Amino acid sequence: MALNIALVGCGGMGLRHLHGFIEHSKKFDTLNLVAVCDVNDQAARHVADVAEEQLGKRPAIHTDFDAMLASESLDAIDIVTDTRMHHVFGEAAFAAGVHVMTEKPIAITMKAARRMREAATASGMTLSVAENYRRDPLCRLAKALLDEGVIGVPRMVMEVSLGGGDTLMHNTAWRALKSRGGGMLIDAGVHTSDLLLYYLGDVSRVYAETGLFETTRYRRAMPPNLAAFYGHRTDDVQAESEAVKVDAVDTGFGVVRFESGAICNLTISEAVQAHSLRIGTIHGSKGTMTMPGPRSGTRGAEITLNGQDGVLSGDDLLALAPSDFRLDDITAEFFGGPGPIASYKMTFEQADRTLLAIEYEEFARAVESGEPPEVDATVGMKALALSYALLESGEVGAPVSLDDVMEGRVAEYQRSIDADNGV
Ligand SMILES: NC(=O)c1ccc[n+]([C@@H]2O[C@H](COP(=O)([O-])OP(=O)(O)OC[C@H]3O[C@@H](n4cnc5c(N)ncnc54)[C@H](O)[C@@H]3O)[C@@H](O)[C@H]2O)c1
Repeated sequence: MALNIALVGCGGMGLRHLHGFIEHSKKFDTLNLVAVCDVNDQAARHVADVAEEQLGKRPAIHTDFDAMLASESLDAIDIVTDTRMHHVFGEAAFAAGVHVMTEKPIAITMKAARRMREAATASGMTLSVAENYRRDPLCRLAKALLDEGVIGVPRMVMEVSLGGGDTLMHNTAWRALKSRGGGMLIDAGVHTSDLLLYYLGDVSRVYAETGLFETTRYRRAMPPNLAAFYGHRTDDVQAESEAVKVDAVDTGFGVVRFESGAICNLTISEAVQAHSLRIGTIHGSKGTMTMPGPRSGTRGAEITLNGQDGVLSGDDLLALAPSDFRLDDITAEFFGGPGPIASYKMTFEQADRTLLAIEYEEFARAVESGEPPEVDATVGMKALALSYALLESGEVGAPVSLDDVMEGRVAEYQRSIDADNGV
C-alpha cells in the first residue's frame, strides 16, 4: 500500500522535492502525494499546479500545518520549510502517529534536534533526514575506495569553501539569520559535515575562530537554473528592501580532530569578496584523494599514489574498488544497474531530482520495514553537531568536544536561538 504523504514547504527546495517525487513515481508506487502545505498560498498553489500536471492528480492545498494534520489522512510528511520549523512539525507529526522525512539540517539547534529524536523514538515512527550529497554514486565510490585503504590511513583533510561575497544566497533572507537558518556554516556547512563524517568517521574535538563580516546582504538576480526553482516564492523577511540586515556568523576557520586521529582544516566563509576557493582533499599514508563533487556527474574522486606518476580518475578508479562493491538496489534503479560508476551524464537538475527520488524510496522502505534509514536522527545530529562545534568553539574561544555539543553541555552560541524559537 502506498503511503499518503504531504509536502510541507513549497519554496525552492520544496519544488525540487516535488521533482524528486515525480522522478520517484516513474519507478515506484510506494508514495502517494495527497497534500501540499505552505503559509505562502501562492507557493503552495504553484507546487500543486506542477504536481497536477506531472502526476495527473492535484494534491490538496493547505496553508496551516495543524489544520492539515487534523484533516488529512496522512501516513507521512516531508518537511522542506526553513529550518526553524523542522522540529515543530516533526514533533507534531510524531504525536499524531505520522512518519517524517525532513530536509537537513535535522533541526535549528541541537536541543531542538534532541527533542525531535526523543519524539521519534517515543512514537516508534520513522525519522529520516534528507541528506542528499552522500547518495551520489560518485560519493559512494569515494567512500568504498577510502574504506578499501586505497590511499592508506587518512591523516589530514583540507576542506575549504570560500566565496559568497555580500550576496544573499538564493534570495532567501532566513538563511542568513541566526535564529532561522544559522547562516552558511549551518545551512550549507551541514552537508560538508555529513560528508566528512561519512568518509572519515566520528569527530572527537573541534577548535575554531569565527566571525561575522557581512552584516548587510543584497538580493541579486539569480542564474536561470536557480530562478526556475526559486522564482515562484516571495521572501518573508525585509522583502521590500534590496539590502537585508543579517546576523548569522558567516565565517569559520576550524581544526577538527577525528576519533581515528586524522586532522582536518574545516574552513567555510560566505564573506569572501571577488574570489572563490574550493579545496576538498584527503591525505592518507599512501596517497591523496580529491573528494568528488556531488550532483556533477563528472567531478569524481581523483587519486594520486606514492611512487606512481599521474592522477587516477574516472574508470581507472573502478579497478581499485573492492571487487564486491555494488550500488544499493534503489540507487541501481536510477543509475543503470548495480555496477559502480565513476561518472554519469546528467544535468544538475536531473542529478538533483534523482538523488531526491532515491531518498524518497529509502524513506518509504524504512517506514515499511521499521528499520532505521541511513541518515537517521543520530546521523543527522552528528552532522549538525560538527557544524555547531565550530560556532560554539568560536563563541567560547576554546576547543569543544563533539559529545558535549551533541548532548547540550556546550551550547552558548545556540542559547539565544533556542530562546527565540521557544525551544
Ligand atoms: N539538500 C539540499 O540540497 C537543500 C538545498 C536547498 C535547501 N535545503 C533545505 O530545504 C529547506 C527549505 O529551503 P528552501 O531553499 O526551499 O527555502 P525557501 O524559503 O525557498 O522555502 C521554504 C518554504 O517554507 C515555507 N514555510 C515557512 N514557514 C512555514 C510554516 N510555518 N508552514 C508552512 N510553510 C512554511 C515558506 O513559505 C517557504 O515557501 C531548508 O531546511 C534548507 O536547508 C536543502
